[in-house]
Amino acid sequence: MKIHPTIAGLRAALQGGGRIAFVPTMGNLHDGHASLMRQARAHGNCVVASLFVNRLQFGPNEDFDRYPRTFEADCATMEQAGVDHVFAPDEGELYPEPQRYFVLPDPAQADILEGEFRPGFFRGVATVVAKLFNIVQPQVALFGRKDYQQFMVVRNMVRELALPIDIVAGETVRDRDGLALSSRNAYLSASDRAEAPRLFRVLGEVRQAVLSGRRDYATVEAGAMDTLNAHGWRTQYVAVRKKLDLQLPAAHDSGLVVLAAGFLGNTRLIDNLEV
Ligand code: PAF
Repeated sequence: MKIHPTIAGLRAALQGGGRIAFVPTMGNLHDGHASLMRQARAHGNCVVASLFVNRLQFGPNEDFDRYPRTFEADCATMEQAGVDHVFAPDEGELYPEPQRYFVLPDPAQADILEGEFRPGFFRGVATVVAKLFNIVQPQVALFGRKDYQQFMVVRNMVRELALPIDIVAGETVRDRDGLALSSRNAYLSASDRAEAPRLFRVLGEVRQAVLSGRRDYATVEAGAMDTLNAHGWRTQYVAVRKKLDLQLPAAHDSGLVVLAAGFLGNTRLIDNLEV
């Protein structure tokens, strides 16, 4: 496995490298990332991963400064997962001048749910992902389904900008108690870690309610939020949405997903479950 801190070095190494499958990350890798990297092998003969904590997608009061930087451990994980090339630029390499040109996703898709609570998040994600795509020039890129809205925004950006890249979703990897793996789980205190799997259980209950015919989504969502809040969560949303564009479903719509986000202590967790 080769590690490249510069764009020029990476580009030189990838010349004539064949079909590239790419997994962008912000590091602090867990088995969800490793699983995407292992899957990437089936999509290309050259697996590239990136490690870059992207300031553009963090709000002023978010955890950019304390986001865990675990370079050595991440390299070991990537090596084991079969990554061929790691692109690990510093900020000066990726943003040598302040970024003034951005990719602006459709507000109808990017200012809802995560975007409502993290203004500018998807502008930051879309911009860095577009930039990474230009640098790596992959044929395939893999994103975890846990960040469902991110996956949708990237897939729609690629389609609408006609980028020649297949976007593949990797299944959410969970701990035995159902908690979706996330870099932010490391922030949880022991008692919050014990409480955290409730998010997945509540999503399961909402899913079950929809499957059993409930169409009063607002009431079902409010009940789920009450349950979480009664157990110490500061729930931001529980939402039943259409899978395709995350818009509100009509009573006859199928192809749904339940998404949720909330704080336990100072840790913000998100998860989702397709219906
Ligand atoms: O999901 C992430 O880790 C980040 O949002 C991504 C896609 C690497 C862009 O910085």
